[in-house]
Amino acid sequence: MSGRTGLPRRRFLGYVGSAVAGAAAGTAGGAAWGATRDDAPPATADRRGLGVEHSPYGVHQAGISAPTPAVVEVVALDLLPSTDRAALGRLLRAWTGDIEALTTGRPTPGDTEPWLAAARADLTVTVGLGPGALAAGRVEGPLGFEPIPPMRHDRLEDAWSGGDLVLVVGAREGTTLAHAVRQLLRDAAPFARERWRQTGFWNGTDAEGRPVVGRNLFGQLDGTANPTPGTDVFDETVWIPATAWAAGTTLVVRRIAMDLDTWAELTRDKQEQALGRTLDDGARLPDPGPQAHARLAHPMENSGARIFRKGVSYATGRQSGLVFMSYQASVAGQFVPIQRSLDRADSLNTWTTAVGSASFAVLPGFAEGDWLGSGLLS
Ligand code: HEM
Repeated sequence: MSGRTGLPRRRFLGYVGSAVAGAAAGTAGGAAWGATRDDAPPATADRRGLGVEHSPYGVHQAGISAPTPAVVEVVALDLLPSTDRAALGRLLRAWTGDIEALTTGRPTPGDTEPWLAAARADLTVTVGLGPGALAAGRVEGPLGFEPIPPMRHDRLEDAWSGGDLVLVVGAREGTTLAHAVRQLLRDAAPFARERWRQTGFWNGTDAEGRPVVGRNLFGQLDGTANPTPGTDVFDETVWIPATAWAAGTTLVVRRIAMDLDTWAELTRDKQEQALGRTLDDGARLPDPGPQAHARLAHPMENSGARIFRKGVSYATGRQSGLVFMSYQASVAGQFVPIQRSLDRADSLNTWTTAVGSASFAVLPGFAEGDWLGSGLLS
């Protein structure tokens, strides 16, 4: 396990990294005054902090299996009463064009701030339809796409719940993200209006920019037992098989408030017992109690049910928590049984409270020349 977090190796590379950076800075300092910018050596010799371009095209929407980006906005929209099946198709065509432009660093058609379109920004836009959009579009939802039943520990607020449509937009930094969301909402204005918006962040890289399992605001490594994209387990967990929804998935969004103050009062041992994993490297405790979160959520306790979790943290004013997000082929068959187990007995319920809940059917991906949702709405 310590190999995975790789602390000693990281320290070593960190030292070498600063030596290289120092050498580069030394050269820059020695360069003649008036050297053109092109002559100046780069400030650092590594590729730290550079983002990637996720192709907008593919069998699946790219944002689902891409690494969790640094900043994320989840926006739920409600359709205007006039938005029927044809209008929904027009909206999805407009969003397709926006996504093609934004993810490749080009301004959208009609962009009023084209300078803000940024290349290699880790930008992804994932689009899903809630029950309202399925009804307006006269589209049958995927199998098992059913409302999440009320849970005993829920304290749901309308302000964070429901929605006819969802956009999950992620990027490597906030300026590109805010610009992308603004363009998408501008094109949605004739068809839908914003219902709620949740902003979150995730640190999924180490000091050298390598991907790692990130930590939530309790300090826990979160995502350790997730299925790995590209594996059979991931494909079986996430993608809807056959039917018109094939290659699509479902998304559950739960805003979960976390009481950081009372959590911080626990001893480290109590914190580890509540989760069933260690805090430093996320290893499973050899003998977790029956109420430990990771034990109760494990497939063995849930007839084999798995989900792919991809939440982001939030901290606004004195409110902190997790914008919990999970992708699964079936809400009723996978998410609900796990959520029921946790609602029944999870130790973490003392410090966590769901204050928002929504679920969406996530459209399959699209090819160049095609548009999002064409298989369901044309
Ligand atoms: C604020 C609320 C939550 C926190 C802080 C939290 C935190 C964690 C952590 C730290 C782990 C262990 C590491 C890992 O495998 O990722 C974990 C595992 C897990 N959690 Fe949560 N979680 C929360 C809510 C939920 C919810 C709402 C669900 C689903 C209904 C869920 C499902 C799972 C599953 C399936 C696992 C993996 C279990 C395994 O296979 O070992 N969690 N969670």
